[in-house]
Amino acid sequence: MSAMKTKAVCISVDKDAFDTLSHLEYISILGYFDLLDRKHQTLRYLGTDQQWKEFSLRHPDIGVIMLVDPPEIKSKLVAHYGEQHLLTVIAPDAYVAHSAVLQDGAIVQRGVKIMPDVKIGKAVKFNINAVAHHDCVVGDFCTLAPGCILLGNVEIGSGSYIGAGSIVLPRIRIGKNVMVGAGSVVTKDIADNLTVMGVPARASSILASDS
Ligand SMILES: CC(C)(COP(=O)(O)OP(=O)(O)OC[C@H]1O[C@@H](n2cnc3c(N)ncnc32)[C@H](O)[C@@H]1OP(=O)(O)O)[C@@H](O)C(=O)NCCC(=O)NCCS
Repeated sequence: MSAMKTKAVCISVDKDAFDTLSHLEYISILGYFDLLDRKHQTLRYLGTDQQWKEFSLRHPDIGVIMLVDPPEIKSKLVAHYGEQHLLTVIAPDAYVAHSAVLQDGAIVQRGVKIMPDVKIGKAVKFNINAVAHHDCVVGDFCTLAPGCILLGNVEIGSGSYIGAGSIVLPRIRIGKNVMVGAGSVVTKDIADNLTVMGVPARASSILASDS
């Protein structure tokens, strides 16, 4: 007898995540919702976000896999789709320490490492090979792009985006709604609502005034 599969829909198109999901035997993806039909080769387009309500009435127990990257959009969509539907997905080759705590809606992609006593808020996305070392705290709706590394005891406020391949040094505090550019090295605390980039990472307004 085959085990019962959890039925779920994806929100937004993320080809890498679709590929990972296709390897998970315990989950059955019915399709995806998005602003428009992106003609994905294997997954069925289910409609726009507006069509979710009617769909969820027909499928009350369906799970939602929140694949959206920009935190400000993600937080609105989580409210729209309903937190009670959020599923956490962990790729088979990801490592999540026993003492790490993940809230609902986490996307933990291939090669990710989440080390002891890390705390992750709701609907946080760890893209491929992202790493959070011990005791990091990552706020709700954050997205960690591929290959970024948070060293020990880093704290990141809700709604922040950590760009691909960036490194955040130990004990750094990054505020809410911060954007860290790809390839940055964050050596100092970052206040709320800033975009920073470069090595060492600096606020974009400071970069502009340098030139
Ligand atoms: C930092 C970032 C948000 C800036 O975006 P933006 O405001 O549209 O900036 P622009 O592309 O207009 O570039 C503005 C300037 O910053 C520079 N710049 C852009 N990104 C940079 C980065 N990551 N590091 C250093 N400099 C960067 C540009 O070269 C440009 O410099 P110039 O004015 O001297 O030509 C963006 O470039 C970035 O790095 N996003 C993260 C992408 C990512 O990790 N994606 C993962 C997908 S899975």
